[in-house]
Amino acid sequence: MRKYIVAGNWKMNNDLTETQSLLKALKHETNSGNAQVIVAPTYVNLYPAIEVLKDSDIIVAAQNMHQNASGAFTGEISAAMLKGIGVTTVILGHSERRAYFYESDELLAQKVDTALSNDMRVIFCFGEELADRQSGNHEKIVESQLRNALFHLSANQWSKIVLAYEPVWAIGTGETASPEQAQDMHAFIRKVVGGKYDATTADNVTILYGGSVKPANAKEIFSKPDVDGGLIGGAALKAQDFFEIVNAF
Ligand code: 13P
Repeated sequence: MRKYIVAGNWKMNNDLTETQSLLKALKHETNSGNAQVIVAPTYVNLYPAIEVLKDSDIIVAAQNMHQNASGAFTGEISAAMLKGIGVTTVILGHSERRAYFYESDELLAQKVDTALSNDMRVIFCFGEELADRQSGNHEKIVESQLRNALFHLSANQWSKIVLAYEPVWAIGTGETASPEQAQDMHAFIRKVVGGKYDATTADNVTILYGGSVKPANAKEIFSKPDVDGGLIGGAALKAQDFFEIVNAF
């Protein structure tokens, strides 16, 4: 049975004080749904987040990680550093990393390998741009992103992979994919994974939707059979909104 997850990607928001107060507020919300809750604050606030959430079920994830184990990579953070403070889940391949920091599928394949060899769970983001959707190439793009970054893995390694389909045109724009568009793409993704691996791997992989998910639209999107949760940006920055989304499950 696959896991349901609602994850908040805080991006470059919230200083230390804001992080602590948002997390304290999240701790007091009740998770009455079926989803595991994850928050991804910025690097410098990961350890304080772990401290605040010590006695809570909320899991702390990193937003990125370097592909090398250590060395002369000024400004970068390794898997071992994350694990050393208790972070065992990492978001990789976010479209903002791809667009602003030129992260390619090939680089992401390396990052995925590094994460998995450190026994970390990966939330792998991918999704088409508006032009791809308009030209009808969205499935082709999504399939190639999966193939290039993940299809070298063994079926066993997929137990550590969570997919996050985030159409770029829906991120931070207020425009979501319709529940039908999300369902169609998630079903397609599961079919592609099943074709490469097997029905069990496809059935067990959690596929999150991300892109302008809000309390007002979460329930409808999450009601689709192949949508196993969400990766939430803007709406994850308010405790009440985030938990309304969590409880939409
Ligand atoms: P928004 O929810 O702000 O559109 O962001 C989605 C996202 O990029 C999550 O990773």
